Amino acid sequence: MASDVDAKVDSLLSQMTLEEKVGMIHANTPFTSGGVERLGIPELIMSDGPHGVRHEHGRDWVKDEGVYDSSTYLPVGTALGATWNPELGYKFGQVLGSEANFRGKDVILGPGLNIIRSPLNGRNFEYITEDPYLNSRMVVGYIKGVQENDVAASAKHYIANTLEYDREYVNVEMSDRALREIYLPGFKAAVQEGGALTVMAAYNKFRGVYCAHSGFLLDEILKGELGFKGLVMSDWAAVKSADAVSVGMDVEMGTDLLQGENVDYNKFHMADTAISMVKNGIVAESVIDEKVRRILTVMAKIGKFGERKKGEYNTKEHQAVARRIADEAIVLLKNEGALPLLQEGIKTLAVVGANADHRHAGAGGSSQVKAYYEVTPLAGLKNLLGDKTQISYARGYEIVKGEPDNAELIKEAIETVKGADAAIYVGGWVHGYTDQWNDNAYDAEVVDKPDMMLPFGQEELIKAVLKANPNTVIVLVGGGPIDMRGWKSEAKSIVQAWYGGMEGGNALADMLFGKVNPSGKLPFTFPEKLEDSPAHSVAQYPDENLLIDHKEGIFVGYRYFDTYEVEPAFAFGHGLSYTTFEYSDLQIAKDGNQVSVSVTVTNSGEVAGAEVIQVYVKDQESRLERPVKELKGFDKVMLDSEESSTISFRLNEDSFSYYDDEQRKWVLEPGKFTVLVGSSSRDIRLKGTLEL
Ligand code: BGC
Repeated sequence: MASDVDAKVDSLLSQMTLEEKVGMIHANTPFTSGGVERLGIPELIMSDGPHGVRHEHGRDWVKDEGVYDSSTYLPVGTALGATWNPELGYKFGQVLGSEANFRGKDVILGPGLNIIRSPLNGRNFEYITEDPYLNSRMVVGYIKGVQENDVAASAKHYIANTLEYDREYVNVEMSDRALREIYLPGFKAAVQEGGALTVMAAYNKFRGVYCAHSGFLLDEILKGELGFKGLVMSDWAAVKSADAVSVGMDVEMGTDLLQGENVDYNKFHMADTAISMVKNGIVAESVIDEKVRRILTVMAKIGKFGERKKGEYNTKEHQAVARRIADEAIVLLKNEGALPLLQEGIKTLAVVGANADHRHAGAGGSSQVKAYYEVTPLAGLKNLLGDKTQISYARGYEIVKGEPDNAELIKEAIETVKGADAAIYVGGWVHGYTDQWNDNAYDAEVVDKPDMMLPFGQEELIKAVLKANPNTVIVLVGGGPIDMRGWKSEAKSIVQAWYGGMEGGNALADMLFGKVNPSGKLPFTFPEKLEDSPAHSVAQYPDENLLIDHKEGIFVGYRYFDTYEVEPAFAFGHGLSYTTFEYSDLQIAKDGNQVSVSVTVTNSGEVAGAEVIQVYVKDQESRLERPVKELKGFDKVMLDSEESSTISFRLNEDSFSYYDDEQRKWVLEPGKFTVLVGSSSRDIRLKGTLEL
């Protein structure tokens, strides 16, 4: 097979003129790069995005009307991360790949693998986690699932694009250690284990050089050390000059954004200029050949030159996957008795909050999808409760930025929750106000949040509602944490619902009424307040010179909170259940540097439920400072009431090593290590030691 591909690629390449080759290394429409008709080489057709196939543009940026392009809308990246279920990563990828294939796409522009470093990044919702290990485990299945459908995945945005404002201008500085231990592992797993066929270079500079121009990132690390054999494309308009021709940038996309309506694709940096560069001896033709070889190889691998699988679209099975991911993603942050709600005793239910009745799929930037349907929280509750419960709804706030005058809406909300048998508040962030690409919202591309405070006047509303009905359940929608200090202790139950995809409302209703036992765990730390986050305390975000100096180094997320003893609002890995789990019988055995860990977990409560067993490692003593714990294993197990299961984990040298900046290599320092096993990073149930 491999040699068939090579033979085909060699043969095509040998017949191509320089102009034809260069025609393949840049875009020829917003979402395609060029082919060579004479030789039967088709265009490469790309589409966003990470959680659903984006609507059609045709050959320009204008949305096509009247075409069948409403697709399955999956829960977003943070929701997938919150499932802590790699099998669902795989199913997610399968749905996406199958639908992309059905829609005639060759490359799906996802997964988003940037590390969630600051709570303010407007695009965190597209990413998975703050932890490199969780990132790696979730992404492998995602990519395999996509690519099994003869569609290439694109691991993006390589690398360290962890904010949106000024993303095209900022320069990221970080130690080699932070790069290796935190930012690179997701991409490494995507390439080496997932077999990602494409990688997208990010907008930002890294150590003073644009990612899309960086020989260090593209040639030395990605194609060299990681052995990446696929193609590198630029983020849209991330190539800034013809410098990119000489390095491992293979396909320049999106530069037309800068050129207005009449785009001349030959004026891209890697177009006519590249031809002259070769003719003038500035770049060897073999450099262009190498890029074309990679593009042709990707085409061959996804069946562009032969038989190709057939995808499916908007099937019940795809919707069922969206539902299952949404079910497993919801995180029960706090529960002092208000949940689950019991349908029998509830004749009247009050629902408050504009987010209960807001659709999210169509906004947020490039990841927007035209959802085949989207069940809002309010619709989900109606679906579940039918006529037996009377639901009264009050918006409480309008989804409009600025200084709102919500007095009337708050009054109405208070009246609504007061007399009701039960009350649910659904608020939080939004992608946008309307279904525009990005109408200056909070969780969206090109936008960062100004702070962690609830938008749209919700702070005042939530306090008023909790005062009027202290049993009101608080549900938060959105890609990230909110400063809850003003009302957290007043609320009995708090739920993190993310952007749950097309089935999100049904999943939420099931969880609130106990039809589904929550099993989501936070894939990143929820700080009490913004200043507690290392990106905003220790480091700058960014400074006036557009420098993002990662002064916190490897101390990202819980690595910082736990090591420096900063109390978070809700810890990494945290998530409650309607049942309880007991941990017992921790066994640690080693064979050389291979360590096996096993633990017995028992569902000691009355209902079935799933638990995510988390294994952290602590180096008791080391030459370089290390976090007090690092996630090195996890498993999600479903247990009936009173059922027990013994779960085993394998740890290897990687689990105990750190990257030494000076020696420029991974080091396993002999000595004692603690293995910590628990239900969250701050709920460690069992510990054991071993010596390596
Ligand atoms: C985004 C990418 C996206 C591309 C194409 C860029 O603005 O950063 O994630 O894939 O646009 O829509």
